[in-house]
Amino acid sequence: MTATFSAWSIERYGAPDRLTPVTLPIPTPGPTEVLIRIHASAVTRADGMMRAGTPRFARLFLGLRRPRQNLSGTGLSGEVIAVGDRVSRFAVGDAVFGEAGLKFGANASHICLDESSILMKKPHTLSHEEAAVMCDGPLTSYHFLHKLTQVKAGQRIVILGGAGSLGSAAVQIAAAAGAHVTATCSTRNTFFVAGLGAERIIDYTREDFRALPDRYDVIFDTIGVSSFGAAKARLTDTGHYICPVLTLRLVGAMLLSRLTSGRRAFFAATGLQAPEKLRSHLDHLLTMVDVGTLCPVLDRVYPLADLIEAHRHMETGHKRGNVVVV
Ligand SMILES: NC(=O)c1ccc[n+]([C@@H]2O[C@H](COP(=O)([O-])OP(=O)(O)OC[C@H]3O[C@@H](n4cnc5c(N)ncnc54)[C@H](OP(=O)(O)O)[C@@H]3O)[C@@H](O)[C@H]2O)c1
Repeated sequence: MTATFSAWSIERYGAPDRLTPVTLPIPTPGPTEVLIRIHASAVTRADGMMRAGTPRFARLFLGLRRPRQNLSGTGLSGEVIAVGDRVSRFAVGDAVFGEAGLKFGANASHICLDESSILMKKPHTLSHEEAAVMCDGPLTSYHFLHKLTQVKAGQRIVILGGAGSLGSAAVQIAAAAGAHVTATCSTRNTFFVAGLGAERIIDYTREDFRALPDRYDVIFDTIGVSSFGAAKARLTDTGHYICPVLTLRLVGAMLLSRLTSGRRAFFAATGLQAPEKLRSHLDHLLTMVDVGTLCPVLDRVYPLADLIEAHRHMETGHKRGNVVVV
């Protein structure tokens, strides 16, 4: 009898209830692949966008009428249970975490990934739940803060959306770099975000950071609630506005701000960077985990069977840190 595994499929773009549980034959790893039994996988805003097919221009890459790769999930953590005959980085029994990327299929019980992909050995200091989210908030915020801009000790930075997946990691990463961190969040999250290392909290339900006189070397708009144009006056003369949410307005701001020597706007799709580069960022993040300056934040953990509920919670726009299925 063929051995099978559980996964979730998206046949048509739409709401969370478009997700359908499926049972598929367990693949045999190719020569450079490892077969992973997944213990935990992330449920991210990017996963929600891929499920919904939004923004619509993303369908040029994801599939025009329906997802080209129809399985759900990208970030994962688990255990290697078989390896191809040319695999050298991993062995059976290794605990690993990483990112399925555009192959998708991480919200599942098993997956085959190439050893050259974004796959790392999981340290004991991280649980599978924590490791499964490392490639979302922590990796993206690291890339934005250390590569798109170069956050330095003594700089002043404001993180818009300090309680989310990217925001909760960004506060920790910027504080560890020695920056003076201000973060925005709602009233219920003020103590939580301060505890991550923000020196100052702006409760966005009471105050607009743009109405305050402070100026920042970096504005990291983790959820795209502002814009370069609207936030520019709060930047120092050479300050950077960085934002992971792609809009035409942001593309325009990036292009126009390149023409000036002053304030700049930046976007990047972190998951599209070369795997070697992202693995090296993950190495730095694991060092931070080791020395205690980074701890991935978990909001809710659902059983894999409740993926639809997990997507609904993720899409409230008010999760605290990360959502995981196990
Ligand atoms: N470019 C890339 O490579 C890349 C990679 C990964 C993700 N992304 C994108 O990054 C974005 C952020 O993802 P995420 O997972 O970090 O988001 P998220 O976790 O869903 O953000 C939720 C948080 O936003 C806060 N929030 C909501 N409205 C706010 C406001 N007006 N001001 C301040 N905070 C507010 C909420 O806090 P309260 O509950 O306190 O309101 C909540 O904690 C998504 O659009 C995602 O697609 C891009």
